Amino acid sequence: MDKRETIIIVGGGVFGLSTALNLAQDGFRSITVLDRSMPPVPDGSSNDISRVIRFDYGDKVYAEMGKEAYDLWNTQPEYANSFHQTPCVWTAQQSGPANLVSSGGSDFIRKTKEILTNMGAEWHGLENMEALKARFPTISGNPIGDGFEGFYNTEAGWADAGLAIAGLRDRCIVAGINFVTGTHGQVTGLQKGADGTITAVKTAEGNLIRGDKFIFATGAWTASLIPSWNSMVATGQIVGFLRLTPEEVKALKDLPIVFNLSTGFFIFPPHEDSGYLKVACHSFGYTLSSLVEGEDVSSPPSSAISARANFIPEEGRQRLLAGLGEILPQLVSRGFEKTAICWYNETPTGDFVFDYHPDHKNLFIATGGTGHAYKFLPVIGKYIAGAFQQKLSPELLQKWKFHTEYNKQEKDDVFTGTKSRKGGDGSRGGPKRREFTPQEKDNLLSLTNALAKRSAKL
Ligand SMILES: Cc1cc2nc3c(=O)[nH]c(=O)nc-3n(C[C@H](O)[C@H](O)[C@H](O)COP(=O)(O)OP(=O)(O)OC[C@H]3O[C@@H](n4cnc5c(N)ncnc54)[C@H](O)[C@@H]3O)c2cc1C
Ligand SMILES: *[C@@H]1O[C@H](CO)[C@@H](O)[C@H](O)[C@H]1NC(C)=O
Repeated sequence: MDKRETIIIVGGGVFGLSTALNLAQDGFRSITVLDRSMPPVPDGSSNDISRVIRFDYGDKVYAEMGKEAYDLWNTQPEYANSFHQTPCVWTAQQSGPANLVSSGGSDFIRKTKEILTNMGAEWHGLENMEALKARFPTISGNPIGDGFEGFYNTEAGWADAGLAIAGLRDRCIVAGINFVTGTHGQVTGLQKGADGTITAVKTAEGNLIRGDKFIFATGAWTASLIPSWNSMVATGQIVGFLRLTPEEVKALKDLPIVFNLSTGFFIFPPHEDSGYLKVACHSFGYTLSSLVEGEDVSSPPSSAISARANFIPEEGRQRLLAGLGEILPQLVSRGFEKTAICWYNETPTGDFVFDYHPDHKNLFIATGGTGHAYKFLPVIGKYIAGAFQQKLSPELLQKWKFHTEYNKQEKDDVFTGTKSRKGGDGSRGGPKRREFTPQEKDNLLSLTNALAKRSAKL
């Protein structure tokens, strides 16, 4: 590939920025990142106070990549301000509550332990709830459930997601990468040549930005921007932030990350800088659909750039509080200071998409984070740039290909079939995916628009 070509990367999240930096380090001379906002983008999926860093995976490729990334998070000076080493605990109940989609928790635990063992990585079994509480005494709740299973890995942690993205952005700037943001960087359409080659992207300012190659790393927005061939779906996931006192932050500092695979619930240790305790659900999520060229497409509320609205469905709030009650019951009555919907771009198998688009030969897609991509920040650029230059092994190119065969299948079948019901790698739990109700949609969109108006005035 000619390194003097002009590369336009749309999207400055973990995928876009890490690709940009890797290509620059590899000698590409003209790289421009476009985004709706300067990264860390307030409502981008790569931005939050925390993301789990782990290599516990039921899939060998992600386990090994996760280990490669973990070692860098843990040792490299550029991540020292954002990475916090903390054990990660996985729990599941063999017989989950009847109202929940059957969880692949047990399966995930078995496969993951096997893969860790084969990698020569250490993990520690937890026989029962008592063992969990004895090892992690900050867990004050009395989780109950039949057939408890669990283990933990001390080689894990969490990263201050916004902070690490800001560092990555700064390294991109030093490497000579251009940024175009706001309405000047917000892409509204493609300009195509007769053979489907993309010649330029159109922006909200009405400008054309030309390039030789285009990389769309547009996360959960992707299917609303380009034909997705029924191979991805954006889902909203629930997050809650609970205000702690400085004393509580101290008292809870040894809380591990705990995943409950039966419900999808997970909890982080306190975030000292903000004083927040964060909980979330790694579940099947909600869709927010609208018609794009005659097709139902789910996407985040994309009208304007703003912080995430303080909104989740009431039933989601109850799920977060129930999960919290199993771990730290003393905090349930306090409730959340704020909640948020954060967006996954899901693929049917949970695999990323790093491939050229079937309709446009100079359009490369880097998306499909499926709720687990952030941790790969230190290494993923190498893999995406490798796929972009078709230099990866045939196995990896195959794993991350753009699937066209789903187009012939029913959406429901592709995304709620047995495979995806287990969340690709079986790490999801919780109720079935559903569309936001009209009332929930209304609330989410009006709160988001109000925030956007306020930030436009500043
Ligand atoms: C609640 C939640 C918890 C998660 N927890 C974890 C975790 O613990 N560990 C982990 O590893 N991963 C986690 N993830 C997943 C991880 O955060 C994502 O997989 C990852 O951030 C996706 O990165 P991205 O670059 O694809 O998307 P994004 O960061 O969303 O980047 C896409 C960018 O495209 C831009 N864009 C969109 N449309 C346009 C347009 N028209 N013009 C210009 N720019 C545009 C957006 O503004 C955005 O900045 C979590 C995700 C969520 C939502
Ligand atoms: C996980 O959730 C199940 C179902 O609600 C519950 O019975 C169990 O106690 C929870 N486990 C932990 C460790 O919180």
